[in-house]
Amino acid sequence: MAIENFTAYNPVKLHFGEGVVSKLGKSTAKYGKKVLLIYGKGSVKKYGYYDQVVEQLNSAELEIIEYSGIKPNPVIEDVRMATDLGGRENIDVIVALGGGSVIDSAKIIAIAVASGYDGWDIMTRKVKPERTIPLICVLTLAATGTEMNAGAVVQNHDTGEKIGFVDELNFPKESFLDPSFTVTVPKNHTIYGIVDLIAHALEQYFGEGEPPIIDQITFDIIKDAMHWGPQLLDNLQNVELRANIMLDATLALNGLTRYGKINGDWGVHAVGHELSLLYDMPHGASLSIVYIAWLILHKDRIPERIQKLGKNLFGTDTVDGTIAAMKSFFQSINAPVTLQDESIGEDQKEMIIAQLNKNSVSGMHHDLTEDDRRKIVDLMFYH
Ligand code: NZQ
Ligand code: ZN
Repeated sequence: MAIENFTAYNPVKLHFGEGVVSKLGKSTAKYGKKVLLIYGKGSVKKYGYYDQVVEQLNSAELEIIEYSGIKPNPVIEDVRMATDLGGRENIDVIVALGGGSVIDSAKIIAIAVASGYDGWDIMTRKVKPERTIPLICVLTLAATGTEMNAGAVVQNHDTGEKIGFVDELNFPKESFLDPSFTVTVPKNHTIYGIVDLIAHALEQYFGEGEPPIIDQITFDIIKDAMHWGPQLLDNLQNVELRANIMLDATLALNGLTRYGKINGDWGVHAVGHELSLLYDMPHGASLSIVYIAWLILHKDRIPERIQKLGKNLFGTDTVDGTIAAMKSFFQSINAPVTLQDESIGEDQKEMIIAQLNKNSVSGMHHDLTEDDRRKIVDLMFYH
């Protein structure tokens, strides 16, 4: 069956476009009086987004408690400290102002505050929380799709893991996507965001199930990002170009590209998370490196699927042509395609392989054996 049985559910109210944050105060007030405002390491204050959000919350006469300092590649320690603060202050609602790291942390903090469970016990499914507190997101970086999905990714250096937790409790109540809030994203993170959204589309495409209409939608999302992305990199302040990429990123991982499928693959993300854990590598940077290696590893295993992708994206008929075109696109936007590009030397090889084996890194549709993990690491150095 090309279209597999599936259940779709997405309750997030999405506000998209310039100026939508003017509705933030009223929207947040629906969920309570006391707000925990969470943000990162300072960009939102530097560029004035914080002031706009605080003005909104003040105008709705909400009390604001703050937790700041969430790191890119967020860590469980911040989740725990923010949970303690939120619990102590008896907060009603969380407003997350930032990119994927802030929003993902806020998702777990919300569940931990409501349930009283430890954040890592929630992530590892040691406990089964049944409630959360309402989460409102103000997105400042287009990449992850977290603003409209049920995923959260956090890392724990004590256990040596960066893992995802997917659960309906993670869905934000409302998300505000104003593309003008993203014009200050630096060039490197803009590149990583473009790679990340393309990788999300690809992870879904290489999952189990081949619904023709969803394949087409997936190709269109990737093509749109490949069309507007390079223009945006030459015009970082252009709000219209920012809006195009912002919508692509949300569509790539809000559930739509999984309709008619049993799962996505996510093997590339799984390998990428280990690189972020080991080297604090930005998420998107890890993905352009791993994707090329993954495609080469799979070129004789799923040639038709790779060919179909190449035909639709690049007009090429061959598997090798598809992989070469994908690689040159990544290179054309200055995304890394080998570990050397990220200054990681071959002396690291055995350690990376051991880390992948320790966490049994694999895809959901295409399993990775120990031998595959060695090959994929080899390929990340040379292809
Ligand atoms: O910390 P601040 O000062 O805010 O700076 C951030 C950070 O350094 C900066 N930034 C964000 N918005 C900005 C800005 N700088 C200037 N202007 C703005 N408007 O950008 C840096 C990166 O931020 P981060 O939130 O880490 O980036 P991203 O949105 O790419 O999120 C990455 C995290 O999301 C996870 C990744 O693994 C990674 O941990 N993912 C979450 C997913 C999900 N929940 O569905 C799916 C993804 O596959 C991904 O795994
Ligand atoms: Zn991703």
